[in-house]
Amino acid sequence: MNNPVIAIDGPSASGKGTVASRVAAVLGWAYLDSGALYRLTALYAEQQGVAWGDEAQVAALAQALPVRFADGEIYLHNAAVGAAIRAEHIGMGASQVAALPQVRAALLQRQRDFAAHSPLVADGRDMASVVFPDAVLKIFLTASAQVRAQRRALQLNLPLEGAAFEQILHDIEARDAADRNRAVAPLQQAADAVLLDTSDLNIEQAVKKVIDCYRQIEN
Ligand code: C5P
Repeated sequence: MNNPVIAIDGPSASGKGTVASRVAAVLGWAYLDSGALYRLTALYAEQQGVAWGDEAQVAALAQALPVRFADGEIYLHNAAVGAAIRAEHIGMGASQVAALPQVRAALLQRQRDFAAHSPLVADGRDMASVVFPDAVLKIFLTASAQVRAQRRALQLNLPLEGAAFEQILHDIEARDAADRNRAVAPLQQAADAVLLDTSDLNIEQAVKKVIDCYRQIEN
């Protein structure tokens, strides 16, 4: 029998990673940050001198990604890269390599394997639509671009107005557009997903909403 999966999709900086990992912790389930795999692929390509647009070569790197997740850290060839993959330019690279069908295909089974030995909470853009279409619960977690930019600025200790803030807002909107408008596995709310707008919710409230949804279907 397949392990149950909760799929949480949403745009960048929506807080879905934090919410998904906390839901996993509350339930005692495994957690998959699928965006990390695309970020790792972009970083690995950069390290290997492969252009992000070179589909065949990037897909080959994605297939062979020497990644290890251990104790909350991510290792690429045994070097810790948790911080390096969060850089904004790697996020843009991830968005670029994620638009390549061969790269998505190369990462598909690797993502499904996370549910092989444990129930799983998975977050990304196409968890509900492509990777785990049989997920027991599908959540589309979002917030307005303005609120997401404010959260990112707070994380970075930047003011909530001015040129730096406008740049953050611009980057978020650009990545949204790239993720929504691409031909393969675009970011969209699955027909059977529950919409969770966190613009006016804090993390605890959002986690509780997801857990409540799960308890409802579990009973
Ligand atoms: O979620 P995160 O911001 O880490 O994802 C980085 C990029 O990877 C996204 O902008 C998106 O283009 C891509 N991605 C994807 N499918 C996923 C997860 C991430 O296309 N399941």
